[in-house]
Amino acid sequence: MSKLMSSTLQDIHQEKILILDFGSQYTQLIARRLRESGVYCEIFPYDLSETRARDFAPNGIVLSGGPESVNAEATLVAPGYVFELDVPVLGICYGMQTMAKQLGGEVQVSSKSEFGFARVQLMQESQLLGELKDGIEDDESYLDVWMSHGDKVTRTPPGFVVGGRSDNTDIALMFDEERSFYGVQFHPEVNHTLQGAEIIDRFVKKVCKCKALWTPTKIVQDIVERIRVQVGSGRVILGMSGGVDSSVVAALLSRAIGDQLTCVFVDNGLLRYDEANQVEKMVGEGTQNVYALNLVTVNATDRFLSRLEGVTDPEEKRKIIGNTFIDVFDEQAATIEGVGFLAQGTIYPDVIESAGHEEGKAHVIKSHHNVGGLPDYMNLELVEPLRELFKDEVRKIGLELGLSREMVFRHPFPGPGLGVRILGEVKPIYADLLREADHIYLQELRAAGLYDQVSQAFTVFLPVRSVGVVGDARRYEYVIALRAVETIDFMTARWAHLPYEFLERVSSRIINEISGVSRVVYDVSSKPPATIEWE
Ligand code: XMP
Repeated sequence: MSKLMSSTLQDIHQEKILILDFGSQYTQLIARRLRESGVYCEIFPYDLSETRARDFAPNGIVLSGGPESVNAEATLVAPGYVFELDVPVLGICYGMQTMAKQLGGEVQVSSKSEFGFARVQLMQESQLLGELKDGIEDDESYLDVWMSHGDKVTRTPPGFVVGGRSDNTDIALMFDEERSFYGVQFHPEVNHTLQGAEIIDRFVKKVCKCKALWTPTKIVQDIVERIRVQVGSGRVILGMSGGVDSSVVAALLSRAIGDQLTCVFVDNGLLRYDEANQVEKMVGEGTQNVYALNLVTVNATDRFLSRLEGVTDPEEKRKIIGNTFIDVFDEQAATIEGVGFLAQGTIYPDVIESAGHEEGKAHVIKSHHNVGGLPDYMNLELVEPLRELFKDEVRKIGLELGLSREMVFRHPFPGPGLGVRILGEVKPIYADLLREADHIYLQELRAAGLYDQVSQAFTVFLPVRSVGVVGDARRYEYVIALRAVETIDFMTARWAHLPYEFLERVSSRIINEISGVSRVVYDVSSKPPATIEWE
């Protein structure tokens, strides 16, 4: 990574796996699984230069899957050094096919694709599978795997043996143990492959012989040490949002540099119910435990809401909220003597995505601004302690640092907050109604044990009026929509099938307890084509 600092601790990046990305939707999943096995890894584009690969000095290489066909003209091939670095190589799906073809085997284009569950009957023992095969009767030795491919390997390269076959694929697993080259047609990184995690674990530990140095405790020690080296006696400013990432950054910085850190929390009037208090409370609790955070809360509600007056376009609203945040934060920073650093909660997927931008590669993840747009004249050096971590790792180290489960497993909340959940013009009264409705919804979700089962849940304010009758009185009031989705990556999402009784309870509480709302509806749109937020 760009900012590897010298450290007196054991280097947790000492043992590592290089992943070459051929464009699979599962590449990040491969990385997460490798790291769950306790080994650091990084993802690079498939055509990474030899110099950079040698500098990285991997203990093993994984070739990801990808959408291409190895037989197409101008197809993607693994660089030659992959097979010459004298380290184990695991080719997954497309990675296996290109390995087969490049080393002298044969791949056939198939019009018939194999997608979904499959059974791979094992034919040969290998280091990769080891005990997975032991103890299973010969005629029952199989793996339950997830397949997703069209082309298939029809002849193994010289030196390889066939390790397993499925109904559709005679060569579903191949290897050359002499050189430690393995190819699997299935996807060990997805949960549907029952023995997948064990296969990946065996690859890093038995085949690549890596030690498990990448653990939450060691990651925290490493980051804390690197912050100290980078910052020295300098002062750091951090924009706290109350979300997982900025809270974990705050806790790490506090542990590393104590009161050289100042956290700024901007109340923009578009926060969730009681949010400002909760952030202060979290900080308070932290102080008693481990953390000393200088928290400055800036109440800029009027400034945000007055700038939003009369504005209805969603992107325009986003811009105003983002720019106002920068103004407020900037002013605040100027009042703190000697600030030299700005901390940010950038995580590894953001880094991969911006690398994609630089190299002009296709990218699908939507980019959202955080404090990223701060003016250059502030002249602050960035501190990005989470740059190497996936979201699930951020959560693990959050728990390691002693943050509460509630904080660590909070649903994501967009930067523009309720500003994009009030359709059209934002008015203070709408924000108040929405906040209350959202509070009831989340409270009920937690009480029913459903909060952790959905990925994101929130309410949306619809500025239309609808007739209702409460007691004998006719009401003509606003509408609240409930939204809940299940998703892994937030790029696609399924609307959550919440129980009817639950929805009934929420609806009845919102209508009865909030005067100003006469109707509640449930959003049954999945993404795509709908987005998760309504604006
Ligand atoms: P969409 O609505 O694009 O949302 O399906 C995907 C995820 O991104 C969050 N989101 C935002 N986050 N600033 C943010 O920081 C934004 O402007 C923004 N818009 C959407 C959304 O909450 C969901 O988790």
